[in-house]
Amino acid sequence: LDNGLALKPTMGWLHWERFMCNTDCDTDPDNCVSERLYMQMADVMVKEGWREAGYEYVCIDDCWPSHQRDAQGRLQADPKRFPGGIKKLADYIHSRGLKLGIYGDVGTSTCAGYPGSLGYYETDAQTFADWGVDLLKFDGCYMNWTRLGDGYVTMSKALNRTGRNIIYSCEWPLYEWPFHQPNYTAIRETCNHWRNFADVYDSWSSIKSIVEWTAAHQEIIVPSAGPGGWNDPDMLVIGNFGLSHDQQESQMALWAIMAAPLLMSNDLRDICPRSKGLLQNRQIIAISQDPLGKQGYRTAKVDSFEVWERPLSKKRLAIAVLNKQEIGGPRRFPIGMAPGWKICDPQCNVTQILPQYKELGIQTLHSKVAVLVNPSGTVLMTVTPANRHFKSHHSLHWQD
Ligand code: GLA
Repeated sequence: LDNGLALKPTMGWLHWERFMCNTDCDTDPDNCVSERLYMQMADVMVKEGWREAGYEYVCIDDCWPSHQRDAQGRLQADPKRFPGGIKKLADYIHSRGLKLGIYGDVGTSTCAGYPGSLGYYETDAQTFADWGVDLLKFDGCYMNWTRLGDGYVTMSKALNRTGRNIIYSCEWPLYEWPFHQPNYTAIRETCNHWRNFADVYDSWSSIKSIVEWTAAHQEIIVPSAGPGGWNDPDMLVIGNFGLSHDQQESQMALWAIMAAPLLMSNDLRDICPRSKGLLQNRQIIAISQDPLGKQGYRTAKVDSFEVWERPLSKKRLAIAVLNKQEIGGPRRFPIGMAPGWKICDPQCNVTQILPQYKELGIQTLHSKVAVLVNPSGTVLMTVTPANRHFKSHHSLHWQD
């Protein structure tokens, strides 16, 4: 969507996977969907280096509104859980140098049964703008699929007319796939990012199914990604309970390769240092946010390995090698087998980023170097073409 926003994949936090539709603030005040949750998350994001690292959007998902619209037909936040209202919450988030996201639905009702926006697109867009909302996640439950396109486009225009900068996050293709192949040109013109596939949950099988779906449909979906519009494989579940550390590294590496929005759904108030370090890893974030804005894709399957590659600015390349074998120990992958390795003619400079930072130095087309990939883990590297002539000015001994 050409609204000047999401020129790089959106980074932030979204409550759904971790906190779901917990509305029980009486017995579970720390984890229920309430203004406190977002305020606390915002505080931690400032204090613990998340904002510094680039995570900017604090996003509300389903279950925030009251079941009734007000007398003017406007959505209102549940008064018990959001006593200050959304405008106050937005002010609080903004005062911390962060941005606020909210959630709605294109149909008659949200997936969890709260009021949907069908028949109220103008009103709701204006309400969100008046409140100072900076991102809208717009779900697709309870909507006749033949009217999805109409609904998503109408809301996109309504948001635009408010004059406020609001990132528009859609689930249009996800709800259209069961019926036919979505029109990604139209989707890209309408949305800043879009969900294609099932909801992520806190397990390796979920991550694997998302990665597999993405590879299987890459010819259709990859060309539509670029500054202003991104494929959204759903939230990062790093820092929760279901993934081993190697699997967390795989999610982080692949989401960076896929130019995915990096929306964490975890409890930043209580996250282990290793997961935090991974989510804040500057080299991985730089791949995710690379200014060229091209989405990567799977380029090879070799034995139990999958090779994923993403073209980066300055003719560089990011390569991720995922080991899908879930038995045994680390396995060796000769890096020269990656299809993108041809940029190493005559030579290239290789940096390993995961599982640990390591300069692998100058390599050639016929490099014998292999990397060790843990079961369900990923080795992530960047490859920079190096020109022998150019280098020879600086270090004569590089000339044969
Ligand atoms: C759908 C969406 C999820 C989440 C829930 C909320 O399942 O795909 O991301 O927003 O609805 O009910």
